Amino acid sequence: MPAPLRALTVTAAAAAGVIAYACVVERNWFALRRYEVPVLPAGAAPVKVLHLSDVHLTPGRHRLLSWLRCQDSLGPDLVVNTGDSIAHPQAVGPFLAALGPLLERPGIFVYGSNDLYSPVPRNPLGYLREPTRIVSRNIPNLPWSDLGAGMAAAGWLDANNRRGRLKVGDLDVEAAGVHDSHIGRDRYDAIAGPADPAADLRIGVMHSPEPQVMDAFAADGYDLLLAGHTHGGQVCLPGYGTLVTNCGIDPDRARGLHRHPAEGGPDRPWLHVSAGLGTSPWAPFRLACRPEASLLTLVPRIG
Ligand SMILES: [Fe+2]
Repeated sequence: MPAPLRALTVTAAAAAGVIAYACVVERNWFALRRYEVPVLPAGAAPVKVLHLSDVHLTPGRHRLLSWLRCQDSLGPDLVVNTGDSIAHPQAVGPFLAALGPLLERPGIFVYGSNDLYSPVPRNPLGYLREPTRIVSRNIPNLPWSDLGAGMAAAGWLDANNRRGRLKVGDLDVEAAGVHDSHIGRDRYDAIAGPADPAADLRIGVMHSPEPQVMDAFAADGYDLLLAGHTHGGQVCLPGYGTLVTNCGIDPDRARGLHRHPAEGGPDRPWLHVSAGLGTSPWAPFRLACRPEASLLTLVPRIG
């Protein structure tokens, strides 16, 4: 075989191997990330927060469902779901069933665009140019209200442009959230105003970690912000990291535990962005960015 043809064959085989790995192996290689967050008042007992996001459930994701079903064994004191839970009209029942006993724990949820609108094929290279926008469909075609009703019926706080109060362990928690700003449904005005300084903890929840929304939560005195949407970039370069976030947040904070703003004093809120558990069914791969959920152990502030 001539050298150029041999090089082409090797390159094609390597590319096929990477694609097969990303679609078959890594997409189903779920990870539980653990973080300690010093955000509680002095003397408070630690509490565990399970952060779920971007499940994008479609029929046939049996590995994903069984992994999700096992997470109650972590014993979280609070579950936070930052949206994009479904991607198919028949996904609500299996999603709620997979949550199972997690629904008996305190919970908070917001919606992502994919809870309302079924996924459509996109050119993956489009994500490199600019964040996606759903402009052509104004009427939701997925059963987002059944999804929300299922979680709300279990007692979870619907934080879509709403504020609420929860008991989490021994803590009195104020929580507020916005609907998905990625599709222009966020109404921060509906929840604006200083968070209650008498609460033990103030949590802000959103699907898409847009800087202007996080700025507003920070200005109102929230301690911990939780978001999803980015998929951590979904396809990352080993040794480099996230290429795109599909929203306004910088790639360095597209997943994991950070502060917001990125620079500033010690009173800035903590920010956790989940890389999420799923993918669009039209982009069924993850590379150097394993699907994940996170267990945040909240502990007293340092100093
Ligand atoms: Fe998503």
